[in-house]
Amino acid sequence: MRVVVCNSFAPLDQLVIEERPSVALRSGQVRIAVRAAGVNFVDALIVQGLYQIKPPLPFTPGGESVGVITEIAEDVSECSVGQRVLVTSGAGAFATEMVVGARNTLAMPDSLTDGQAATFMQSYGTAWFALVERARMQAGQWLLVLGAGGGVGLGAVDVGHALGLKVIAAASSPEKRALAESRGAVATIDSSAEDVKARAKEISGEGLDAVYDPIGGAVGEQCLRALRDDGQFLVIGFASGDIPKLPANQVLLRNRRVTGVEWGGWVIKHPEQNQRMVGEILAKIVAGELNPVEPYAYAFDDAAHALADQQNRNVVGKAVLLVSSADAA
Ligand SMILES: NC(=O)c1ccc[n+]([C@@H]2O[C@H](COP(=O)([O-])OP(=O)(O)OC[C@H]3O[C@@H](n4cnc5c(N)ncnc54)[C@H](OP(=O)(O)O)[C@@H]3O)[C@@H](O)[C@H]2O)c1
Repeated sequence: MRVVVCNSFAPLDQLVIEERPSVALRSGQVRIAVRAAGVNFVDALIVQGLYQIKPPLPFTPGGESVGVITEIAEDVSECSVGQRVLVTSGAGAFATEMVVGARNTLAMPDSLTDGQAATFMQSYGTAWFALVERARMQAGQWLLVLGAGGGVGLGAVDVGHALGLKVIAAASSPEKRALAESRGAVATIDSSAEDVKARAKEISGEGLDAVYDPIGGAVGEQCLRALRDDGQFLVIGFASGDIPKLPANQVLLRNRRVTGVEWGGWVIKHPEQNQRMVGEILAKIVAGELNPVEPYAYAFDDAAHALADQQNRNVVGKAVLLVSSADAA
C-alpha cells in the first residue's frame, strides 16, 4: 500500500509518499481499499503544525475517506466484505489502504459518488450541527453565510435551503457564488468587492437572523452589526487566520447572541446524538433534499498540491484525492 507521510511539521511540499507493507487485522478491525480521500482546510494546518491538535510524527494526514471493505476480522459482524463505507478519522486517510475498527465505518448510499461520499461529512455535519442543534433556526429566517463557496460554507447554504431559510451567500469569486446559487441561495454578495454588511442589510430588509462565519477577521465582525433583534452570530472557524474580537456593545444592542459551534468536540461527547444527526443528513441526501457537491479531483500523488490549493482559496466547493488502480497496486 502507499501512504502520504508527514515526517515533520513543515511546508506542504515536504510531504512524501511511501510504500508500506499491509498490516494484519486485529480483533474488531476491517481492511479498506480506499477509493477517495477528502481534502479539508484543517488537514493543511495540521501538516504545517498550525493546528491545536499535533499528531505524533510521522503521521499520515487526512480525516475522511471512502473505500470498499476487502477483509474483516473473525469477530466482526456489523459490516461485510464488498461494502462501500466512509471512514472518519483524525488522520490516516491519505492512504491507498486503511485498517480501522469496524465501528468507525459507515455504509454509504449508492446515490453518492466516491468523491461526494468522501467529502460531505465534515461540511454537512458542521452545517447541520450549527443551524439545527446550536442555532435552532426556523423556516423563513434570514441566514448570511460567509465563505459560501468553501466546504462548510457551501454545506450551510445547502442545509439552510433545505430547512426553508432565506440564504444570502457571500463569496469572493463568480464560480463560488454560482455554486452557492445552485444550492439554493436567494441572493449572493461579492465579498471581494462589496460591503457585505450593508448589502446583507439591504437584501434582508429587517436584518439577519443569523451570520455563519467560517472565515473570521473583519468581515464577520462587521456583519454582527447586520443582525436583527435576538439574531445570532455563529462562530464556525477562522480560515483567514484572524480570530475576531467581537464588540460586546454590539452583542448587547438588540439582544444579539454569539453562538460557538464545535462539531468535532460535540461528536466525541455525544456520539449517539451525532449518529442520529448523521442519519438525518443521509436520509435528506438520499431523498434529494441535500446535494453535496461533486468535488474537484486530484491524483493521489498530488496530495501536497491539493492541500496548497485548499489553503490558498483556489478550491471551489470541495477537493478530493482519487485513488486509481495503479496507486493501489
Ligand atoms: N466549527 C467546526 O465544527 C468546524 C468544522 C469544520 C471546519 N471548521 C473550520 O471552518 C473553516 C473553513 O473550513 P472549510 O472546510 O470551509 O475551508 P475551505 O473549503 O477552504 O473554505 C474556506 C473559505 O474561507 C474563505 N477565506 C477567506 N480568507 C481566507 C484565507 N486567508 N485563507 C483561506 N480561506 C479564506 C474562502 O472563501 P472566499 O474566497 O469566498 O473568501 C474559502 O473558500 C476552517 O477554519 C475550519 O477549520 C470548523
